[in-house]
Amino acid sequence: MKITFYGHNCLGLEIKGKHILVDPFISGNELAKDKVNMDEIKADYILLTHAHSDHTLDVDAIAKRTNAVIVSNFEITTYYEEKGFPVHPMNIGGSWTFDFGDVKYVTAHHTSSFEDGTYGGQPGGFVIKGEHKNIYVAGDTALTMDMKLIPLYAKLDLAILPVGDNFTMGIDDALIASDFVECDKVLGVHFDTFGFIEIDHDEAKKKFYDAGKDLMLLDIGESIEL
Ligand code: NI
Ligand code: MN
Repeated sequence: MKITFYGHNCLGLEIKGKHILVDPFISGNELAKDKVNMDEIKADYILLTHAHSDHTLDVDAIAKRTNAVIVSNFEITTYYEEKGFPVHPMNIGGSWTFDFGDVKYVTAHHTSSFEDGTYGGQPGGFVIKGEHKNIYVAGDTALTMDMKLIPLYAKLDLAILPVGDNFTMGIDDALIASDFVECDKVLGVHFDTFGFIEIDHDEAKKKFYDAGKDLMLLDIGESIEL
């Protein structure tokens, strides 16, 4: 499984030859827009954690070019289905086996509405089991007790957690979250994009290191292989 960080919560996953794009937000991200060529991103699927524009801004452009199937909760997929895009609706607690692996849409504690005010349903995260590697994409969320359920679904190889604070959990809660989901290898997301979520990288990594855990903060465009 290959994971590429496109900034904020935008991730490119490559599993079994399929390209899965999570939360496309590039053209509006000052840190990413000159580093990532949106027109070259491949997508067979677009997974959306919730409707906020810092997670959905570039869905239309990328879905139109790639004809990717949009996967999210019922309200979000209905919004895109009405625009003519192919979708796969899910909702909290539901799983589906796609051609790249199993996906479970799980609880996130946050809010979810589109820029135009349309209700975006309940926000979520994804547990993805693919190619013998299991990952958890938490999406925008507070630390929540529901995270203790994740190990019952999957033994994680990587937890992708927001660490920027203010709009989501910060480093200290992400550290607790990594205990709850029983995964010591964490990829931090949702940091530095705006003033409210700038973090001290060294301090954040040290907190994980001191707890015997590993926090990765990738450069925009950087990839890791699981
Ligand atoms: Ni959000
Ligand atoms: Mn966000």
